[in-house]
Amino acid sequence: MVKVDISMNSQLEKSIQQLKESVEASIDQLLPLSDQRPDNLHSSMRYSLCDGGKRVRGILVLLCSKIFKASADPLPAAVAIECIHAYSLIHDDLPAIDDSDIRRNKPSNHIAFNEATAILAGDALLTEAFKILSENYKENPELGIRLIQELATASSSLGMIGGQMEDIENEGQAVVASTLDFIHENKTAKLIQAAIYMGFAFSEESKRHSNEIRQLGYHIGMSFQYIDDLLDVQSDTETLGKPTGSDSDSDKLTSVKVYGIEGTQKKVAEHTSQAEALLDQLGGEQSILRPYIQFLQNRLN
Ligand code: IPE
Ligand code: IPE
Ligand code: MG
Ligand code: MG
Ligand code: MG
Repeated sequence: MVKVDISMNSQLEKSIQQLKESVEASIDQLLPLSDQRPDNLHSSMRYSLCDGGKRVRGILVLLCSKIFKASADPLPAAVAIECIHAYSLIHDDLPAIDDSDIRRNKPSNHIAFNEATAILAGDALLTEAFKILSENYKENPELGIRLIQELATASSSLGMIGGQMEDIENEGQAVVASTLDFIHENKTAKLIQAAIYMGFAFSEESKRHSNEIRQLGYHIGMSFQYIDDLLDVQSDTETLGKPTGSDSDSDKLTSVKVYGIEGTQKKVAEHTSQAEALLDQLGGEQSILRPYIQFLQNRLN
């Protein structure tokens, strides 16, 4: 019994590693080279995007594109969402936002380069995402527009940036559970939801399941930020690759502050089981997606 579990885990690890490597190879291929002028800017973009990170959003795009039959190559879409994510992390770490010096086990972008370069590298990665989508899906404009619309909406002021705004505004403020929900849903869940939606957008069959797909993304995304808040309290900098204890240092409105550790763990379990119930309804080829979702629930970084 134990043997079976171990081999299943290592098989999953191998599959995830392969997906991660394919996302990374495409990032390397699609991004301007470091020696392209202005080389400092391109080095800074590559510094934050090419090296490190779990690639959860890119992997979710790939896995969800495989549930039903994909009509085009999902790799450029996986790269595009990783560009947006990397830009959001560069800006999140800036002194004016979370003022965080370590990211992905190395100095944050503004420490390795400088603040001006970090701001511009973030801006350029944001733009690069939509350049990649518009160039790589021009043969399939209906799909291209769906991908662009989804990614733009999720990262807009009605999505990730809106969540980041209230995250900052609520530092040191009274605990309000509905505000925490707003922050988590917008700053994190919407981009994860977009990853899932974008993956499914590659197959015709998924159009019939639009509601379940949205809900699936919501539950996986909410659970992802609950775990991020837990790890800030429970992990260490080396394992996490970013500073721990920083949420309480800046008195952030986190799930640990609102629900405590056990209450947050309960939320994670609830959202994960709702996600699994939705997967039951969806059907299709889930042999990697399903264990990957369990793996995310137990992640250590
Ligand atoms: C960190 O995201 C920021 C959040 C939205 C919680 P990840 O935990 O996916 O960070 P990387 O990409 O692995 O570094
Ligand atoms: C960041 O949330 C969400 C983003 C949109 C970048 P956090 O501020 O909690 O992310 P970490 O903990 O710095 O990775
Ligand atoms: Mg933040
Ligand atoms: Mg932060
Ligand atoms: Mg965090």
